[in-house]
Amino acid sequence: MLNITDLTVRYGKLTALDGVDIRVDAGEAVFVVGPNGAGKSTLLKTIAGLLRPAGGQVAFEGRAIAGGAPEALCRGGLSLVPEGRHIFRTLTVEENLSVGMMIRRDKAEAKADLEQVLGLFPILRERFRGIAGNLSGGEQQQLAIARALLQRPRLLMIDEPSLGLAPLVIEGVYASLRELNAGGLTLLVVEQSTARVLDLASRVYVIRSGKVVLTDSAEALATGDAMEEAYFGYAGRADA
Ligand SMILES: Nc1ncnc2c1ncn2[C@@H]1O[C@H](COP(=O)(O)OP(=O)(O)OP(=O)(O)O)[C@@H](O)[C@H]1O
Ligand SMILES: [Mg+2]
Repeated sequence: MLNITDLTVRYGKLTALDGVDIRVDAGEAVFVVGPNGAGKSTLLKTIAGLLRPAGGQVAFEGRAIAGGAPEALCRGGLSLVPEGRHIFRTLTVEENLSVGMMIRRDKAEAKADLEQVLGLFPILRERFRGIAGNLSGGEQQQLAIARALLQRPRLLMIDEPSLGLAPLVIEGVYASLRELNAGGLTLLVVEQSTARVLDLASRVYVIRSGKVVLTDSAEALATGDAMEEAYFGYAGRADA
């Protein structure tokens, strides 16, 4: 579904992504984990069309999309829940959700989707006319995911869904993501923490300093320390 090859992204002289290869097949939940500054947000922003790569290819459903306009990519089935959520705090929950529906031309279906999303996140129905800034962190994350879902993505990308949330709240967010993935939605999630990743992931990429240092199935990574070692960069240090 998504095929990224040899992707390089720079901010001026700084190379944030350096020859990255990542693949996401339909129905998968692929996680990209890595420490601060590894290039995770850069990766998602580039896929979403917010950054123009210096080199490499991004293909979505067989079409080259690198450098495409964000709105066109969104209409084309790619939605991003950005780091820090970016909800409109002074607007109501309803107004925030209507932003997600703005790109929809099929208004009747969009309304049905709204009902479905409110079913998935009942708190948003309860707080529908309330100010979004008054929602808790976990509720705001649900709102951000709900807003992206209303764009009816085929691939949903989420930048650090667990950021700043308490463990129990993260559990709830991950449960929703699991339900969405089980329902057939393909996910590409980046996380700084590896803690929950294996609960949901089908495959995992570890990136450090803009490079993929490990990729494997979640099943294979569940035993052993390969993921931690790649994350912290122990490999090569063992015999130093
Ligand atoms: N707009 C920018 N201008 C210049 N450098 C940037 C910009 N955005 C990110 N960078 C740099 O690019 C590198 C990768 O940043 P990125 O935000 O992709 O990391 P990240 O993996 O998402 O980190 P975090 O876990 O802290 O969110 C970092 O060194 C960062 O300082
Ligand atoms: Mg980031």
